[in-house]
Amino acid sequence: MNDALWYKDAIIYQLHVKAFLDSNADGIGDFRGLTDKLDYLQDLGITALWLLPMYPSPFKDDGYDISDYLDIHKHYGTLKDFQEFLDEAHRRNLRVITELVINHTSDQHPWFQDARRSPSSPYRDYYVWSDSDQKYSGTRIIFTDTERSNWSWDPDAKAYYWHRFFSHQPDLNFDHPRVREEVIDIMKFWLDKGVDGLRVDAVPYLVEREGTSCENLPETHEVLKEIRRAVDAGYPDRMLLAEANQWPADVRPYFANGDEFHMAFHFPLMPRIFMAIKKEDRHPITDILRQTPPIPPNCQWALFLRNHDELTLEMVTADERDYLYREYCTDPRMKINIGIRRRLASLMDNDRRKIELLNSLLFTMPGTPILYYGDELGMGDNIYLGDRNGVRTPMQWTGDRNAGFSRAETAQLYLPLNVDPVFGYQALNVEAQLRVPNSLLKWTKRILTVRKKHRTFGRGTLEFLNPSNRAILAYVRKFEGETLLIVNNLASTAQPVELDLRRFIGTDVIELLGETKFPRVAEHPYQLSLTPYGYFWFQLASSHGARR
Ligand code: GLC
Ligand code: CA
Repeated sequence: MNDALWYKDAIIYQLHVKAFLDSNADGIGDFRGLTDKLDYLQDLGITALWLLPMYPSPFKDDGYDISDYLDIHKHYGTLKDFQEFLDEAHRRNLRVITELVINHTSDQHPWFQDARRSPSSPYRDYYVWSDSDQKYSGTRIIFTDTERSNWSWDPDAKAYYWHRFFSHQPDLNFDHPRVREEVIDIMKFWLDKGVDGLRVDAVPYLVEREGTSCENLPETHEVLKEIRRAVDAGYPDRMLLAEANQWPADVRPYFANGDEFHMAFHFPLMPRIFMAIKKEDRHPITDILRQTPPIPPNCQWALFLRNHDELTLEMVTADERDYLYREYCTDPRMKINIGIRRRLASLMDNDRRKIELLNSLLFTMPGTPILYYGDELGMGDNIYLGDRNGVRTPMQWTGDRNAGFSRAETAQLYLPLNVDPVFGYQALNVEAQLRVPNSLLKWTKRILTVRKKHRTFGRGTLEFLNPSNRAILAYVRKFEGETLLIVNNLASTAQPVELDLRRFIGTDVIELLGETKFPRVAEHPYQLSLTPYGYFWFQLASSHGARR
């Protein structure tokens, strides 16, 4: 486990402790339950877990509103339960990534409670106060459905406080050295326990300056570099992952010279994958990747199709947004803020071919893939639940009572189970899918096995081929003498393609999922026929090479 670049070869599984398994029948998943399910995760083939916030919180933003950074929420267990979980994960060679939510605290955090009481509180300057709500007026509002302003009046403090998210999440003041020290202490507390990586929430918004958008400011990068220096000084094999929902050119500085973040999500790519499959045209994907600047060698993109939030449409043009709303929001309930609150399988109309194709993209494009819990089964969403809860329902283990998730009263579950005729747990669950050789779960396991055999997927270069058929997205990935060729058909109909592979003349073409030999590359264009939404993962091996 001591390769410092482990995150480049990782396959990350994102989950919420509350959603996985309830061990004590109170209706809420917990660390003991999760520990019991580590064998499932190991067997699935993922290599790292990313846990959503697990700290004490009033849960007005599902735990992203933290009231104590140094403990575990009592619903989920104790610090000891967490340590046991972490040790058991490590024993199975699974790394663990947790959340560092530092842009804001909950308004219930003792710092804010003290700060609001008096201007002379030692915590007053931990937050951003003003007598007027007109400062920083160039700053956009993120939660457009619920918030009217980034300022809220606090009657106790008799002042306005700054918040980029919900009004119950006051922003911390990173101009204050004590705040930066506190954040580093919190980070060390978890790194000392053995946490392998931290997803740092909402990083573009740490520092505010008049006359700017208050996003991606140089002062914010300074704070983040200070955090990175603390990691490098004491914890050289750990990883920092940036949540910066920004354009590629604005995310690039978060990697700096390889001395800020190790990883960052590629937010703009994600909606363009959904656009490309609807338009049956590769250009949305190739355009955004061409606009993506190169990153330092020790850095890596984090790729995802879906997560615990809405499918955000902030990083697309107004026309593209209209298009995606029209195509994917058949019911206005599916919209939230600037995005779509649905799961992968429902967005793909439960079409197995489309689900596989999108995963084929996720697992072969340059970066580290992140799977959202339940998407390995094709779980659906529940658009009748509030906020983003529709994609946060309990994991579906079996067709038994409460889907095998909990022995509590059904009414006691933290959210209702999905009981839809198609996506409901009675029909769609782990137990059933383990019995069927061709289930999505079994397919996911197979594809992860293949992916893990080739470091080229995580580390290799990318070069697009340009066949005249725009429905075909084909690319070459290269790393240390290995060459892979990936060909995807974005169309709902069978498609032919001719690829110019002349520079590979004489090499064998081996399809990796079935280990089938295809015709060798010759002078003439390489011809392939793809089934609707079909995909090929090929290895191009010199005929004299080891794979003969
Ligand atoms: C991040 C989280 C989101 C949360 C927000 C505010 O964007 O992904 O779930 O609501 O931060 O903390
Ligand atoms: Ca429980």
